[in-house]
Amino acid sequence: MPVLRFNGVFLLLLLLFGPSLGTSPSFSVDYKNNCFRKDGEQFRYISGSIHYSRIPRAYWKDRLLKMYMAGLNAIQTYVPWNYHEESPGQYDFSGDRDVEYFLKLAQEIGLFVILRPGPYICAEWDMGGLPSWLLNKKNIVLRSSDADYIAAVDKWMGKLLPMMKPYLYQNSGPIITVQVENEYGSYFACDYNYMRHLTKLFRAHLGDEVVLFTTDGAGVNYLKCGSIQGLYATVDFGPGANITAAFEAQRHAEPYGPLVNSEFYTGWLDHWGSRHSVVSSALVAKSLSRMLAVEANVNLYMFIGGSNFGYWNGANSPYAAQPTSYDYDAPLSEAGDLTEKYFAIRDVIRMYSKVPEGPIPPTTPKYAYGSVKMKKLQTVSDATETLSFSGPVRSSYPQTFTDLNQAFGFVLYRTTLAVNCSQPTPLSSPLNGVHDRAYVSVDGVAVGILERNKVLSVNVTGKAGSQVDVLVENMGRINYGRDINDFKGLVSNLTLGQVPVTGWTMYSLSIDEAVKQGLLGDHPPARTDQGQPAALSPPAFYKGSFVIPGGIPDLPQDSYVKLPGWKKGQIWINGFNLGRYWPARGPQVTLFVPASILSTAAPNNVTVLELEADPCSSQSCTVEFTASPVLNATVLSEHKPCRRLFTKEDLL
Ligand SMILES: *[C@@H]1O[C@H](CO)[C@@H](O)[C@H](O)[C@H]1NC(C)=O
Ligand SMILES: *[C@@H]1O[C@H](CO)[C@@H](O)[C@H](O)[C@H]1NC(C)=O
Ligand SMILES: *[C@@H]1O[C@H](CO)[C@@H](O)[C@H](O)[C@H]1NC(C)=O
Ligand SMILES: *[C@@H]1O[C@H](CO)[C@@H](O)[C@H](O)[C@H]1NC(C)=O
Ligand SMILES: *[C@@H]1O[C@H](CO)[C@@H](O)[C@H](O)[C@H]1NC(C)=O
Ligand SMILES: *[C@@H]1O[C@H](CO)[C@@H](O)[C@H](O)[C@H]1NC(C)=O
Repeated sequence: MPVLRFNGVFLLLLLLFGPSLGTSPSFSVDYKNNCFRKDGEQFRYISGSIHYSRIPRAYWKDRLLKMYMAGLNAIQTYVPWNYHEESPGQYDFSGDRDVEYFLKLAQEIGLFVILRPGPYICAEWDMGGLPSWLLNKKNIVLRSSDADYIAAVDKWMGKLLPMMKPYLYQNSGPIITVQVENEYGSYFACDYNYMRHLTKLFRAHLGDEVVLFTTDGAGVNYLKCGSIQGLYATVDFGPGANITAAFEAQRHAEPYGPLVNSEFYTGWLDHWGSRHSVVSSALVAKSLSRMLAVEANVNLYMFIGGSNFGYWNGANSPYAAQPTSYDYDAPLSEAGDLTEKYFAIRDVIRMYSKVPEGPIPPTTPKYAYGSVKMKKLQTVSDATETLSFSGPVRSSYPQTFTDLNQAFGFVLYRTTLAVNCSQPTPLSSPLNGVHDRAYVSVDGVAVGILERNKVLSVNVTGKAGSQVDVLVENMGRINYGRDINDFKGLVSNLTLGQVPVTGWTMYSLSIDEAVKQGLLGDHPPARTDQGQPAALSPPAFYKGSFVIPGGIPDLPQDSYVKLPGWKKGQIWINGFNLGRYWPARGPQVTLFVPASILSTAAPNNVTVLELEADPCSSQSCTVEFTASPVLNATVLSEHKPCRRLFTKEDLL
């Protein structure tokens, strides 16, 4: 009985929020009075988005409390399918993935929950939350009536929804509404049978009472394929939109019932190589106030963005990956800090509803642990045997990550030069099949980088028989639009000169496990780097450690880490994969380091995988822990900046 743990609070909540004695809790759409109705009373939510998958569990309570103190009465969260079922049938709801605990905390604090279980969620999350193993069927049509897709959805929802059912408001839990799919009207398939199937599936598991809804862009054209009978249609739009026109679009689908903006954008997402998105507090406050004035229900997306730890970021098409930080310029920063926008929003809410009295949990202190000296370990090529837990796979032509049963990270593709290349000879991906970035070396010497849509050819020289290593990085799967079937690895043949390269040996690399288990060996002294710093060196590991200073109260505290002079790679602390760094491209320069992964009992171990070139022979070979974030370093903008921040269509 999971509820027992919160018994006292639970009773209190029943008294505060529960129905009068004798009736059971109810939540419904009132079509007559254009509002929601909770236990018979008119009800309007002012909600904020928080994704538990982007915040360490240790901080869930702090963030939820801050949301409550801003005057919100609800939160909205997605459930990312691929976060809970990384391999078919193997479910993980523990630790940071304990969504039930998250729901209980929300209820304990006094927040209702708007649940968005997908199956597709977009969310700037890898593949929009869909597990990449769905691509085992190569031509699967995701988000449609495709039989294999539906079978997997049915199985997953058969696990998730019964788990959520006790948390429905009708069952004395915090969940007031449940969204089905996500912005389906923006997807090309427009498959009504799919939406009908989901409706039946959700009803079968959750019952007839719960309010099910859809969310689409605020335009009649989106609602056409996105809305369907039996699901209450809501819209999403940002602070620049014409509110009257936007809700008119909702009225087109729902002539009666509450006005709902399910995603009111407080900020916007970033991409590597584009400028950091910023949206003014004044604009957000003004637009929020106008919506609240017309009695609309609003969810602020995001209220706190958090971080794409590990490999969880998504990407847009044409391929542009999102960075590790999902700060979103939201009212609570990536690290949960109170911002000017937080107080501006709170002041607006105060005009329309009661805001709780009492102290707001303060911004957590940050500590600058300083510089940590890094020491070079093995290169990836040297460590291949150690890193490849499943052993090599050989085939004439390259296989994808999916073929190799690997979801995230890196695969090493190894072959040999079939001919003497005494002159520079192009090693190319004529069909643009490097997904997403490949670090090429010949006999242990880095020769170049291939990059999806950007660099399709590098020159190589070497004798016949030379070892060619192509380390391919999956930089995050496309999460929006028709390109979500985003296979990774070498998805088409490479050519040398005009000739397809054959004879591949492929190594799935279990880098995260190797880092956790401390399996990486030292850099062999015979190969010490001397002389000129290389513009490019083969991908390699580095390690360092630091001790939390004694005699200072309240340590460990949160921090940020930056990698001065490093180019691009991945960083772990005590085996926890903090995410990708890419200061050479920006705009993100620092990564958030939550105190919860730091230790006072032993030295903290930092592991870096640098993919391009380390700064070690020229400047200091260090990473640096600082007390403030840098997410907006100016970069040579490669993509058109999104000036209008109204809808997701602006990305296209
Ligand atoms: C907003 O939309 C409404 C309804 O479509 C229209 O009448 C009004 O002129 C628009 N306002 C602005 C400022 O464009
Ligand atoms: C490569 O060149 C060497 C001489 O430099 C020669 O012995 C060898 O046969 C050549 N290999 C191929 C595959 O052409
Ligand atoms: C490869 O080498 C050829 C011949 O030297 C040169 O013309 C070409 O620009 C080079 N290509 C790249 C991508 O460096
Ligand atoms: C590589 O080329 C071969 C021969 O044309 C073809 O059979 C194979 O499907 C290609 N592989 C990929 C991954 O495109
Ligand atoms: C860091 O690594 C050392 C050596 O393996 C180990 O003794 C120590 O416990 C590690 N620190 C943490 C915080 O796990
Ligand atoms: C980045 O943000 C900081 C603080 O928020 C600000 O002072 C600085 O001007 C910004 N830099 C750029 C290039 O926008």
